[in-house]
Amino acid sequence: MKILVIGSGGREHALCWKLNKSTKVKEIFAAPGNAGTAMIAENVDIAADDLTALKDFVIKNKVDLTIVGPELPLTLGIVDEFEAAGLRVFGPSKAAAKLEDSKVFSKEIMDKAGVPTAKYRRFTDVTEAKAYAEEEETHGHPLVIKADGLAAGKGVFICTSLDEAFLAIDTIMSDKVFGSAGDSLIIEEYLSGEEASFIAVTDGKTVLPFATSQDHKAIYDNDEGPNTGGMGAYSPAPVVTSTLEETIMRDVMLPMVKTMADEGRPYKGILYGGIMIVDGKPLVLEFNCRFGDPECQPLLMRLKTDLVDIIEATIDDRLSEITLDWDSRDALCVVMAAEGYPEGYEKGQVIEGLDKVECCDVFVFHAGTALKDGRVVTSGGRVLGVTALGDGIRSAIETAYKAVEKISWAGNHEDGGAYYRRDIGKKAL
Ligand code: AMP
Ligand code: GLY
Repeated sequence: MKILVIGSGGREHALCWKLNKSTKVKEIFAAPGNAGTAMIAENVDIAADDLTALKDFVIKNKVDLTIVGPELPLTLGIVDEFEAAGLRVFGPSKAAAKLEDSKVFSKEIMDKAGVPTAKYRRFTDVTEAKAYAEEEETHGHPLVIKADGLAAGKGVFICTSLDEAFLAIDTIMSDKVFGSAGDSLIIEEYLSGEEASFIAVTDGKTVLPFATSQDHKAIYDNDEGPNTGGMGAYSPAPVVTSTLEETIMRDVMLPMVKTMADEGRPYKGILYGGIMIVDGKPLVLEFNCRFGDPECQPLLMRLKTDLVDIIEATIDDRLSEITLDWDSRDALCVVMAAEGYPEGYEKGQVIEGLDKVECCDVFVFHAGTALKDGRVVTSGGRVLGVTALGDGIRSAIETAYKAVEKISWAGNHEDGGAYYRRDIGKKAL
């Protein structure tokens, strides 16, 4: 089989890596890919949101199956376009991907499905949003302010003062830092608890949960500082007990998939619920229409089932025939980012030490990397996802961090330009 993976992050490198293990796969293309995917796939210089060029490439090269990594092409309707052209593609339709594309839409579906989530109000006017923030602030809880649309994980602000709330509202709606994603915003009730990522695959009827996982969204240790796309992840996440997993399936995933079908937006593909566990009960923070990044890296390192079988069964509405098998070991991914991320950062630094870390229990997934004069250089904010398997989380942490310490790149900063959190997996101990 010839497969095209769309995207260029750690998630997409992990997808290529896992597909490469399938005996069914003959050739992999990655568009646009990164220096990591280039080692196992042929990188194709087409942007992930250039739907026409992607479709032309697939037709011309007789690609049998396209797997869409990031949300943007999904929300632009790549699946609809490919299906209309008779092409096999994995992911939700545009109508279904709206669950991630609009927080307001997602809340409305959650309400219809009876799925527990934080209370919220929607605003399209700066003055009204600020007036509401002023009123809410008197209750003494942090204010959660979110751009309605896609903002690469950076459109959510947890504000502990009115000044911060006003700044967030201005950033989203007046300065339009996230473009039209900030045409409207929501102000949401603050939920205090522990977070987990609940990732499942569904063909619109059967919902198969992946192993549990947990991300680390904040840039600094102890979950401090602004949110990022994710600074590290591990699986399994002990906070999601088997009882809680059953509750999430019963109260969240199954009702969402059923309600989306009832609404004429049948959901097929990966459904990822960001869950806050408050007093043992799951409340949904958001839905994503694709694999989490970096959660995908530890999950795929643990997945024993052939990914092609899972994807083909999803497309062909026979997911009920599939069982997911998992490596019983723990997997943990530490993201190495460019100093300065999620704000400004340098690019083009040569990455040293990559050749020193490969062994059977650790794999370095590339995210923002590129090849320049035959060398691997940094080309994005999140650069690498160093992922290790271990007997128990402690061993996975040790192996991952040992590998991280061997990798570096130069920069104008004293610690060599690479930044990573030192506490990934600590919550599982
Ligand atoms: P989201 O993109 O909506 O998942 O939000 C990004 C991150 O912001 C989440 O992973 C949480 O860490 C935090 N967050 C979002 N909504 C809330 C909330 N209502 N209460 C507390 N934290 C939140
Ligand atoms: N790791 C969070 C996300 O993929 O949205």
